[in-house]
Amino acid sequence: MTQVKESLLGTAEVQTVTWPHRVAIIGAGYMGRGIAEVLALANVSCSLADLTPERAGSAARTLFTEAERHERDGLIAPGSALALRDRVRAARSVEHATSGADYVIEAVYEDSELKASLLAEIDSISHTDVVISTNTSAISIQSLSRRLADPTRFLGVHWFNPPQFVPGVEVVPCTQTTREVTQKVKTLLLQVGKMPVEVMDSPGFVANRLQYALFQEAAAVVEEGTATAEAVDLIVRTTFGFRLPIFGPFAIADIAGLDVYRNAYKILQENFPDRFKVPRALEELVEQGRYGAKTGSGFVINSTAQAQAMAARRDRAYVALRRALGGADGLPETSNRDARAGTGNDTSGTTPHTDNIGEPVDSQ
Ligand SMILES: NC(=O)c1ccc[n+]([C@@H]2O[C@H](COP(=O)([O-])OP(=O)(O)OC[C@H]3O[C@@H](n4cnc5c(N)ncnc54)[C@H](O)[C@@H]3O)[C@@H](O)[C@H]2O)c1
Repeated sequence: MTQVKESLLGTAEVQTVTWPHRVAIIGAGYMGRGIAEVLALANVSCSLADLTPERAGSAARTLFTEAERHERDGLIAPGSALALRDRVRAARSVEHATSGADYVIEAVYEDSELKASLLAEIDSISHTDVVISTNTSAISIQSLSRRLADPTRFLGVHWFNPPQFVPGVEVVPCTQTTREVTQKVKTLLLQVGKMPVEVMDSPGFVANRLQYALFQEAAAVVEEGTATAEAVDLIVRTTFGFRLPIFGPFAIADIAGLDVYRNAYKILQENFPDRFKVPRALEELVEQGRYGAKTGSGFVINSTAQAQAMAARRDRAYVALRRALGGADGLPETSNRDARAGTGNDTSGTTPHTDNIGEPVDSQ
């Protein structure tokens, strides 16, 4: 059965899931319930286990109520919430949940010892074919793997909150995880409409390191009185954060101009030497005359044609994104200028034709 799910990044096809048939989710809190909803919507049977049977039962009921709201809000297909009642079961114990499961997902509190001992238990009671993953946000996968007799079938699979709607999932094998296991999990994620990204094991993986680095600087800006927390949030959402669904930091730097970035870094380094330093990779590219889009070579840009295509895509995407946001959450309504772009009705001569962008502009 093929279902269609709407996501903020567009329409994601949910394909037939080839593996697993039955999943056990241990820890039916916020993340466990959300992951169960995603998998059950894709026709996978899910058993939820928690500290007590009552807590597992209550989590299943919460999941059904949340799914009904999602259905009312048009976020999932009509009839899905009812279908979930057949596919999600509350289990009496970890042992009952894992019995017959071919994939076990651990999503208990973020506590190293709790996770390690639970994973050891899951490992000891699960058939050798069963894949085991942890949804830890930051604990080293390698260190957790030491408590499993068979770490070849173990890996980190880090979903983001709310798992029903955030597309990206970090996939973090440990050194012993087999390629087959990693590939199986990545295929599953693609089949349920997610975007798996494999990264090496490192504390906080990638997303949380970046997210927490941003928060660190945001807190410093507020502590020193440069802006209020509200102003910081508004600036992030309406400036560089607005770009992030479309481009990551390397593409953004390439588009801005790496020479521009390097010079701005130098100012920051002079003024905040304990917090900023021109990154070596940035310095090297600038020294080689590779400035990103403007020279057709940078971190991720390899040609002028690619840079031009990227600029055109950027402008179309930003206008579409701005329209999708509308006046959401205190943003001013889309301006007339934005509204005319792409309608073919622009007679002012001031609106750029989004498919015919010349040189990339400095978007810093
Ligand atoms: N909340 C987030 O934004 C987020 C995002 C990504 C990853 N994570 C990670 O996901 C994991 C779960 O986070 P959460 O936000 O869902 O937490 P939560 O507190 O909502 O849920 C944790 C659940 O685990 C249960 N639990 C605790 N010990 C257990 C045990 N021994 N056996 C069975 N169940 C047990 C608790 O009763 C609770 O229901 C954590 O590792 C967290 O770091 C959380």
